[in-house]
Amino acid sequence: MDRSPAPFVPPAPTPRTKPPSTLEMMRIVYRNPLELWGEHSYREPWVSVSGIGGALVVANDPGLIRHVLVDNAKNYRMAKVRQLILRPILRDGLLTAEGETWKRSRKAMAPVFTPRHIFGFAHPMLAKTEAFVEKYETTSGPVDIAQDMTMLTYEILAETLFSGEIAGESGNFANEVERLFETMGRVDPLDLLRAPEWLPRLTRLRGRKTLAYFRNIVRDTMNMRIEKLKLAPEEVPQDFLTLLLRAEGPDGLSREEIEDNIITFIGAGHETTARALGWTIYCLAGAPWERDKVEAEIDAVLAHESDPTKWLDAMPLTRAAFEEALRLYPPAPSINREPIEPEFYKDLHIRKGAAVLVMPWIIHRHRKLWDQPDAFIPSRFHPGNREKIDRFQYLPFGAGPRVCIGTAFAMQEAIIALAVLMSRYRFDIIEATKPWPVQKLTTQPEGGLPMAVSKRR
Ligand code: HEM
Repeated sequence: MDRSPAPFVPPAPTPRTKPPSTLEMMRIVYRNPLELWGEHSYREPWVSVSGIGGALVVANDPGLIRHVLVDNAKNYRMAKVRQLILRPILRDGLLTAEGETWKRSRKAMAPVFTPRHIFGFAHPMLAKTEAFVEKYETTSGPVDIAQDMTMLTYEILAETLFSGEIAGESGNFANEVERLFETMGRVDPLDLLRAPEWLPRLTRLRGRKTLAYFRNIVRDTMNMRIEKLKLAPEEVPQDFLTLLLRAEGPDGLSREEIEDNIITFIGAGHETTARALGWTIYCLAGAPWERDKVEAEIDAVLAHESDPTKWLDAMPLTRAAFEEALRLYPPAPSINREPIEPEFYKDLHIRKGAAVLVMPWIIHRHRKLWDQPDAFIPSRFHPGNREKIDRFQYLPFGAGPRVCIGTAFAMQEAIIALAVLMSRYRFDIIEATKPWPVQKLTTQPEGGLPMAVSKRR
């Protein structure tokens, strides 16, 4: 008889049984788009509707997703709404670049993300995490794990980007990053109505000054490094900045594109991993029998393997818990595209300019694709089971030519962070731990993740 406890079901909005009014819909989309979706969105292979914002297709069927993201990817551009929100911040960074600029940039940046370079970041990742967790030695009350993970992943990113060589005060930089994404990351109601770009978005005006200030720091930091490359090339650290500057040239990146990509890496690579780590620690605390397995694995590996580049492969249960948290709370909850030309997929008519949403949030909880879709069951990703999951039903990092370039970086960082955190400390749910998933730039836990921390040894 199976004696494992009933699986932990972490919080998520209950799918709607009837559609909201237009006004209510605007309110929900502004506040938390995750609360918008009805029961049928979680059951059907696709949902196709026409509303005030135009035609909308929610793509859930793995075949349709493959069609949009891979097989006919050339017919799809980044959705207008997403570009309206992100392009003013990230400009021609990889996430928001299109056409030839994207193609050239992706090619120029591929060498930066090779395993050799990613492995090279393992030791700085470990050192930063070890220094960061010291604070828990003297912690007595609850800690907000969501906020702590944001700080930790920021520190790791700043180290791997610039090796700490940031112009001006580094504390300033961290604050500016936070302010920037807080003020600029919101969906403005005008974006939803697909209003023209020249109409000012009041929700974003505040962010402009921050953005200008932030860009100045990045530019000064780059100039500092360029000088150093000229004067003392042998002393230059092998971080992202050096690697990107080496990719400069007519077939590679322009100076402005390097700046855009640094900002893109900060935007795409820090809060995403932080969210994933926070939700993983929370889900494991909600399922202590799963946490026991992960702790035992980490303890066993750390007892004989000190090389952090080996941990990802050596810890399949830890990786599975992380992947299951990425399923339930995908940090990028929606991948949005727009067809350039109208087309059919089977009997689905995809109109020109329609918003095509490939939503990891919905696909990962689809009633027909997953057993007990809302429950935290890491064994789905254990070796032997993981191989059975369709490539296009699990998309935390997207798929196709625009798949996340930072996947290997994020996976390595996550396992190192979990190994250090969980080998030394235990995080438990307390009365105040009542997170509610909210879609902003990432899937955030509203209310934070206040948790009790205790020493394991
Ligand atoms: C758990 C962490 C992460 C998640 C869940 C994640 C998720 C994603 C997803 C879903 C996409 C595809 C977007 C689309 O197709 O529209 C993407 C793209 C991208 N990600 Fe990540 N990401 C993570 C970490 C990182 C890191 C650490 C970096 C950089 C250091 C990074 C940099 C990028 C970039 C530059 C793109 C754009 C790629 C392109 O369009 O060619 N990401 N990410």
